[in-house]
Amino acid sequence: MSDTQPLSPDLAHFAAILRNGGVVAFPTETVYGLGADATNADAVLGIYTTKGRPRFNPLIVHCADLDMAERIAEFSPLAHRLARFWPGPLTMVLKLRPDAGIADIVTAGLGTVGIRIPAHPLARALIEAAGVPLAAPSANPSGRLSPTSAAQVVAGFGGRVPVLDGGPCSAGVESTIIAIDGDAVVQLRAGALGREEIESVLERPVPRASEDSPIAAPGMLASHYAPNAAMRLNAASPEPGEAYLAFGEEPETATGALRNLSVSGDLREAARNLFAMLHALDATGAQRIAVAPIPETGLGEAINDRLRRAAAPR
Ligand code: TXA
Ligand code: MG
Repeated sequence: MSDTQPLSPDLAHFAAILRNGGVVAFPTETVYGLGADATNADAVLGIYTTKGRPRFNPLIVHCADLDMAERIAEFSPLAHRLARFWPGPLTMVLKLRPDAGIADIVTAGLGTVGIRIPAHPLARALIEAAGVPLAAPSANPSGRLSPTSAAQVVAGFGGRVPVLDGGPCSAGVESTIIAIDGDAVVQLRAGALGREEIESVLERPVPRASEDSPIAAPGMLASHYAPNAAMRLNAASPEPGEAYLAFGEEPETATGALRNLSVSGDLREAARNLFAMLHALDATGAQRIAVAPIPETGLGEAINDRLRRAAAPR
């Protein structure tokens, strides 16, 4: 934000809350985040208590630009190559600089830091106005569906958190997380940036982290993103009493609540609709949500990952 362009009253107000150690929800292109000053341990503690999040689960640090990111993490040549996806839905887990000033509670003492520059212009304007990097998980109570609109954040926290409204999220699933250790890369979480795109820039395969991988994302719990309703995946059609989340052609037998992730079978559109449609079907009070099969290619990897966690035993 340049000096000649005055901040909107909203932005200045939210930035002031952040500078004073408060917690606010803000839009990113992936999902809404619940942000606090990453250099202030008390402020970050407010995120964990608001969300009910386990303390061992570290937070992503959101930066306004590459300068800010480079003051926090050590960038290998390989990390610099991936920085071309910024601003955008990529989180890199890198070595934390000892002089970064990031509160220990943000990184759970791991010695690494998850870092990203969001593409949503309001997110970057907010970070710039606050003047500090923002630690932010998704703005949902721990274990529940991620929010892709301001209204979902308000519903999730019962109005206890001020929300900067930036409209619906354009990507709709969380960032792809890549851990980089020297020359080694591994995908810790499938997300809004397809693995194939990363592989084509690096010109080599990017393996997915396995359960026993030395660098795992501590937050990848089996049950996550859980709606109130039970879930049934790979369902060609709904059974009586089930709500149905379709993809592409809709079965003629659907009689209950129905949403279609993408009538044309477009995975990007499906990712954008995923959480909002799960929220909507859940709000109908259906006992169970049946979901059509989703191909495991491109953004389908991230969509299926979220669906499996939503369906996992709680
Ligand atoms: O799109 C997103 O990434 C959204 C928006 C708000 O930026 N944020 C988000 O944060 O999804 P959260 O907290 O819901 O998920 C962050 C994941 C967790 O699984 C956490 O364990 C992992 O990132 N993570 C964070 N720092 C890490 C680190 N140093 N090493 C390994 N995993 C890390
Ligand atoms: Mg989350």
